[in-house]
Amino acid sequence: MTLPDLAVGVLNGPNLDLLGTREPQLYGDDGLRGILSALEALGAELGARITTKQSNHEGELTDWVRDVGSRQDGMLVNAAAYTHTSVALRDALLAAAVPFVEVHLTNIWAREPFRHHSLLSDIAVGIVSGFGRDSYLLGLRALAAHLRPDA
Ligand code: DQA
Repeated sequence: MTLPDLAVGVLNGPNLDLLGTREPQLYGDDGLRGILSALEALGAELGARITTKQSNHEGELTDWVRDVGSRQDGMLVNAAAYTHTSVALRDALLAAAVPFVEVHLTNIWAREPFRHHSLLSDIAVGIVSGFGRDSYLLGLRALAAHLRPDA
């Protein structure tokens, strides 16, 4: 049986465009482009069409969730610093009402106390945090399984 393709949106928040050079001891050597190519390759395997967005601006991310994210079957969301601060992004995700997995490259609970609180975790399907670029890949597998419970 061939499963219909899933449409998956991938949201990347501020400073993730600097991956590869940004604090590599924490975030690793992969650039965002490399992570997203690996994700697209996995998406092809899983039958998931990936649409990506990165922005350093809260309003732009919020607009994307409203205009594009809301039309996807599911989302992976690494809101980066906005994870800890953005009520606007949370509200847009609630309005979009599309299931999403929260992903982080680092284990946010093993870092500074201000990163221990996420405004998104309680409305996410689940969280993958601490596995570097594999957080995205594991997140996509988990999201696809969530969206196709009988597959
Ligand atoms: C991050 C963790 C956040 O606390 C931080 O602000 C980021 C990246 C991560 O992927 O580990 O920019 O979301």
